[in-house]
Amino acid sequence: MVKPIRKAVFPVAGLGTRFLPATKAMPKEMLTIVDRPVIQYVVDEAKAAGVEHFIFVTGRNKGVIEDHFDIQVELEHTLEQRGKLDTLGILRRDMPKAGHTSFTRQQQPMGLGHAVLCAQELVGDEPFALLLPDMIMKAPRGCLSQMMEVYQQRGGNIVALEEVPEKDTHKYGVVQTGEVRETDYEILGMIEKPAQGHAPSNLILSGRYILQPEIFKYLASQPPGAGNEIQLTDAMIQLKNDQDFSGVKFTGQTFDCGSKSGFLMANVAFGMERGDIAPNVADTIREIVQNYDDRNGIEA
Ligand code: G1P
Repeated sequence: MVKPIRKAVFPVAGLGTRFLPATKAMPKEMLTIVDRPVIQYVVDEAKAAGVEHFIFVTGRNKGVIEDHFDIQVELEHTLEQRGKLDTLGILRRDMPKAGHTSFTRQQQPMGLGHAVLCAQELVGDEPFALLLPDMIMKAPRGCLSQMMEVYQQRGGNIVALEEVPEKDTHKYGVVQTGEVRETDYEILGMIEKPAQGHAPSNLILSGRYILQPEIFKYLASQPPGAGNEIQLTDAMIQLKNDQDFSGVKFTGQTFDCGSKSGFLMANVAFGMERGDIAPNVADTIREIVQNYDDRNGIEA
């Protein structure tokens, strides 16, 4: 029997400089995909996978994330009075159980590894999930749920993998795989942001992890790595000497919402799932693409 995964960590301290000026006064995790903030999609994914407690590693100017996961009494009252019961139902459905969220701050931007280390006291001595909110996954069965199935079988540490074109591998953590099993890959090695042409494969770490608590020991003594930041991948490389890592290639679509194009595409893809707006969105997109093709002499 493996230990259950009850807690998930969400590192949300990043400055969001790629989305300025939108993120000058608003956290990037609160930008909306259709009508739900980015962070809500990731929390939903964790909830669907059975996670019960949500730990946010925040930073300065991130207070509205905490507000988002709290009840807005006046708003609920107004919705009730106006008979907007469907909307009220959505707000109530999304509300985490009282006492099941925790917020701590990463006081200095010292990298993802350091952000995860900041959650140590809140996670305690148990395995946990880690979800990077930049990556939004779309699938009937969420990415973390897919990973949980493999975790039940294999235990240890599980990472989500995604194939990217070789020219993009230098932007990510990249894995070296061993045995290809029915549900997962054996992981032999990892490297954070390999130099172009030096990646061991085109399978990247795509922002979902199930980690054993021993990771904290290595994070605590981790010197800065790529980009002069304390890297989670470097600590995982060390933990790999003591414990197994398995990789799950996620079946579904991934949107890197840390990039403008990924964020826009997520909006289109999730918008197309909404029956009330999909036909209108589809018509307008066809027209926009047609105009673009005409202007640039592109044949359909
Ligand atoms: C982080 C991780 C990297 C991973 C990526 C996925 O990088 O360090 O291993 O591939 O997230 O988005 P960052 O996006 O913080 O540069």
